[in-house]
Amino acid sequence: NNYLVIMAGGIGSRFWPMSTAEKPKQFLDVLGTGKPLLQQTVHRFRNIVPAENIYIVTSANYQELVLEQIPGLTAGQVLLEPCMRNTAPCIAYAAWKINQQNPEANIVVAPSDHLITDETQFEQVIQTGLNFTAANDTLLTLGMKPHRPETGYGYIQANEERNELSIHPVKAFKEKPNRETAQQYLAEGSYYWNSGIFIWSVQSIMNAIRSYLPEIAEIFEQGKNIFYTGKEQAFINQNFPACPKISVDYGIMEKADNIFVLPADFGWSDLGTWGSLWEKRDRNSDGNTVVGSGVHLFECSDTIVHVPNERPMVLQGLDGYIVVEANGVLLVCKKEEEQRIKDFRESVITKT
Ligand code: GDD
Ligand code: MG
Repeated sequence: NNYLVIMAGGIGSRFWPMSTAEKPKQFLDVLGTGKPLLQQTVHRFRNIVPAENIYIVTSANYQELVLEQIPGLTAGQVLLEPCMRNTAPCIAYAAWKINQQNPEANIVVAPSDHLITDETQFEQVIQTGLNFTAANDTLLTLGMKPHRPETGYGYIQANEERNELSIHPVKAFKEKPNRETAQQYLAEGSYYWNSGIFIWSVQSIMNAIRSYLPEIAEIFEQGKNIFYTGKEQAFINQNFPACPKISVDYGIMEKADNIFVLPADFGWSDLGTWGSLWEKRDRNSDGNTVVGSGVHLFECSDTIVHVPNERPMVLQGLDGYIVVEANGVLLVCKKEEEQRIKDFRESVITKT
């Protein structure tokens, strides 16, 4: 009864200008390992979920990219959204569809663009989570120990009590707090980062959507019996745009009262921003990491440079900067301001 739903429809806007709407970061080999992130994601579930139970939800624009990068998939396993509505509608679509095939389904929902280094540990944790949600009407998330006041993540306040699987009930879930609040959470000690990897039975997530996002539930409820038929895509194209644009974190996780967290430690990194890539890459003694053979650094520190060409470039006196040249755009930005890259991108895109 194990299913996997991979959310792969984001545009990686904080990874701009390398990640673009034409080819977002989940389809790129961001770490230089030889495998794009989505491919790595599918691969790490090979021992947990049968290949035919994998669904990838993405924008219709990326259908070919997905099928090309994940050759074993059938077209029916790639769910195509006609427009971006964030993660709650994406999860709802997959849930209502899977429910039609298997109402007993137990689902892992995973982002398409994370790095996980300890795959053995990962498999164990996911299996523990699946065992728990198969028997309980709960929404389970995997919690990571926080080590900086990151404002791009959700924060989970765990109850001290825990069961024999080390799973804690959750007191509160707060998506993307501001810096001061994040600092308080960090000092407080009982908080975890939301990894963005969720586990639940198909019935539990459908019930949560019915309770907290009824307008989304209604839309997919009308689709009963059209999933897995030739009419599915037309139905989605016509009705999906009516879904509100909302993430599962704001729409469900902040509101539901049956949330549990399983703390985990498998070398997780959300490769969400240039700063997170800087953390993962090998750095020299000044804390710099450079891609680009023409780059010359003088008195620079804690800086990430990604200029993958041979043109000479000289940088002097940069401390804690991001310097990226990709897709015809040059970006120079302080690392601590990296959450704003999303907005910087918009200002360029809307002007051109
Ligand atoms: N199909 C589809 N449609 N996928 C989407 C959409 C969409 O409209 N929007 C985003 N995604 C995909 C992204 O490609 C990514 O794999 C995943 O959903 C999560 O979206 P992000 O946009 O990367 O979310 P986030 O990083 O800001 O926040 C989430 O992840 C954090 C950890 O990485 C939240 O769950 C946070 O609470 C969490 O801490
Ligand atoms: Mg992300």
